[in-house]
Amino acid sequence: MPVIAMPSAGALQLGGLRVETPVVLAPMAGVTNAAFRRLCLEQAGQGSGLFVCEMITSRGLVEGDPHTRDMLHFDALETTRSVQLYGTDPVYVGKAAEILCTEYGVAHIDLNFGCPVPKVTRRGGGGALPWKRALLGRILESAVKAAEPFGVPVTMKTRKGIDADHLTFLDAGRIAQESGVAAIALHGRTVADAYSGEADWDAIAELKASVGILVLGNGDIWEAADALRMVEETGVDGVVIGRGCLGRPWLFRDLAAAFAGEQVATLPRLGEVTVMMRRHAELLCHHLGEERGCKEFRKHVTWYLKGFRAGGEMRKNLGLVATLADLDRLLADLDPDEPFPASELGTPRGRQGAPRDKVALPEGWLRDREVHEAIDEDMVSGG
Ligand SMILES: Cc1cc2nc3c(=O)[nH]c(=O)nc-3n(C[C@H](O)[C@H](O)[C@H](O)COP(=O)(O)O)c2cc1C
Repeated sequence: MPVIAMPSAGALQLGGLRVETPVVLAPMAGVTNAAFRRLCLEQAGQGSGLFVCEMITSRGLVEGDPHTRDMLHFDALETTRSVQLYGTDPVYVGKAAEILCTEYGVAHIDLNFGCPVPKVTRRGGGGALPWKRALLGRILESAVKAAEPFGVPVTMKTRKGIDADHLTFLDAGRIAQESGVAAIALHGRTVADAYSGEADWDAIAELKASVGILVLGNGDIWEAADALRMVEETGVDGVVIGRGCLGRPWLFRDLAAAFAGEQVATLPRLGEVTVMMRRHAELLCHHLGEERGCKEFRKHVTWYLKGFRAGGEMRKNLGLVATLADLDRLLADLDPDEPFPASELGTPRGRQGAPRDKVALPEGWLRDREVHEAIDEDMVSGG
């Protein structure tokens, strides 16, 4: 195996939690459930990376909402449980953090301050919240205080700001540091950018240069080589991988190798991809039951087959798959020798879309940076 220059980022030390490979699976609503996390973990190898659960709401957890509790489901292989919490109320967030530590034995809690979904930002949550500096500090302190007795590190994940004229990431970094947060992850886009254009890695470098806590860089890492390049160009302590692993869980194998100084770029033939698809579906069925598992699997089909020749009829049928037996029959018809479409390498996948003209915010939100009324924490799902 060719050996390349040793990357400058080593293991991540988040408080007492050591993550050998400085790679984090980004929380992705509707994707990073127990089955997907296990699939990625199988690829990376135990200890290589941190695999964060889909976002759950503090209020949902505290009030015992069955759907929220249902999402807090872990695979037996997940010896390090990591969960992302959403919240706008320091009291709920603190209580939720405590529940995660006492009832779910989590080893890491991430807080979401980057969600761009209008339903969320309209209430001042997600990516809109860091605009209110004092409130951000109170939420972070509340989570840190609740998790501290359990030795559980708290991190936050955010965007550059609301839009180009209302940037928040440097303040957020300072507040995170003052609040005892172990690391801040920055997605190099604003809420208004949504998923459009290119992630701004210069902002990530600027944040890294401005704080003493660990900084994790996020945005547009499509290959392991991009992760190393982000570390070199920005000086970050680790990377967060979202869309790049959709339909490509083996990216975590490549990343583990790359951070160990080896050059691995997995280029699976279609036959190997179908084995991965089968494994993914099987894990989903294991965790959710066959009917729900197969339904959940359908959304992954296009990602797995992106760039392969598999025809429209085949894709349509795979998108309707209802049982594992169906899936096996369909996958058997694909040409196992078809090589990986090299043109897909390094290209965007998953959500992209256009920037937003206007970010949905509570009335008068941008007028000042203080909060005058309590924010009502609604039940939301991630993004
Ligand atoms: C389908 C999907 C769901 C997402 N859900 C969440 C979420 O629940 N919490 C969060 O912090 N970010 C969420 N994100 C954002 C990602 O975590 C990540 O910040 C973003 O995709 C940029 O990284 P990437 O370029 O590696 O994809 C989501 C992204 C996608 C594509």
